[in-house]
This record gives sequence, structure tokens and C-alpha cells, in this order.
Amino acid sequence: MSTPINTTVPGLTLRIAERADVPILLAFIRELADFERLSAEVTADEAVLERGLFGPRPYAEAVIGRYHGIDSAFALFFHTFSTFLGQPGLYLEDLYVRPEARGCGIGSALLGYVGRLAVQRNCGRLELAVLHWNEPAIRLYRRLGVEPMTDWAVHRISGAALERLAERADA
Ligand code: ACO
Repeated sequence: MSTPINTTVPGLTLRIAERADVPILLAFIRELADFERLSAEVTADEAVLERGLFGPRPYAEAVIGRYHGIDSAFALFFHTFSTFLGQPGLYLEDLYVRPEARGCGIGSALLGYVGRLAVQRNCGRLELAVLHWNEPAIRLYRRLGVEPMTDWAVHRISGAALERLAERADA
């Protein structure tokens, strides 16, 4: 286990996720997907997640919140880059606190930790996406100064459509 990082929330320490944390990370990811009513979209398994986070090219980082000796929360994030700023950014992919540990400041502490990393790494921004109906999370973000980007719409291509797009590159 990596060295615990103290926080201002009594009973809460954070630690940087390591390879041995893949099972708990996957459990958290599945719980978050269930909360978001998106479980059907989770195809990740331990092997895939381990390769993505701890393989030859790690694509994301995660931090785990341990509350009174129990792993209770996590945040997973990765770097982006803004050409307008000419600086990197951080994208918060997941923030999750188990139901029994909510309302004690853990979500705020995790977000604060990721915010501090962003500043330490000279990032110009921290971004995230939240479902329109997720009012508790939106409230938390607003309280901490995270504002919605109303002029922008998130777009995505994946699966067969992405395969077809890739085929366009064939000579
Ligand atoms: N004692 C009592 N209440 C507190 C304390 C405290 N010590 N500290 C903060 N609070 C209050 C805050 O004022 C806040 O109130 P608000 O609702 O008015 O903002 C509320 O508790 C929540 O703040 P935290 O305790 O810091 O947040 P929490 O640990 O409950 O985590 C989270 C918030 C992550 C949204 C959690 O509810 C959760 O996991 N929800 C389900 C999953 C989810 O929605 N994740 C975010 C999706 S978006 C994404 O992943 C990028």
C-alpha cells in the first residue's frame, strides 16, 4: 500500500492507487455505474483495468479514500491538454463515495486533492462531466467552484462506428 496522505477530514486518509488496488477500484467503478444507471456500459474487468492504469503506458491515475480504516471512496483522473492555454489539464473521470460515508467531506477532500495536483502540475484547468439529473454532485461541484460549460456539447464515437472511422485511414 502506498503511504497514507493525511486530510483535514477526521478519520480520512488518501492513498495513491497501486496495482493491488485494481479489485477495489473495479468494485467502486461498478457501484458508480450502478448509481448512474449505466451498469450495462461497464465492460472493464480487472485485467483490462490493470493494463490501463498500471501497464507499459498508464493512461490514468487514481486515489483512494480510506475512512476509519475502510476503503470508502475514489477519484480517477488523467491529463488533457489545452492548446488555447498551451498547458496541460486534468480530467476527473470518476468521483465516488460509498453511501455510508457520504456527507462527511470525503468527496470535497478528494476533489481538493485532485485540484491541488492540478495546481502542482501547472495545469490550466480541471474538467469533468456530470449527468444532468445528478443534483447532489452538481451541488457539490458548484459549491467548490466547478461551473457547467453550457456552450459545449460532449460528443463521442465508439464501438463499430469507431471501427468504421478507423477504416477510412486505410490506403
Ligand atoms: N459533515 C456533514 N456534512 C458535510 C461535511 C461534514 N463534515 N462536509 C461536507 N458536508 C456536506 C457538504 O456541505 C455537502 O453539502 P451539499 O450537498 O450542499 O454540497 C455534502 O455534505 C456533500 O459533500 P461531501 O461530504 O464533501 O461529499 P460526499 O463525500 O458526500 O461525496 C459525492 C459527494 C461524490 C457526489 C457522493 O455523494 C457520491 O459518491 N455520489 C454518488 C456518485 C456520484 O454522484 N459521483 C459523482 C459523479 S460525476 C463524476 O464522477 C465526475
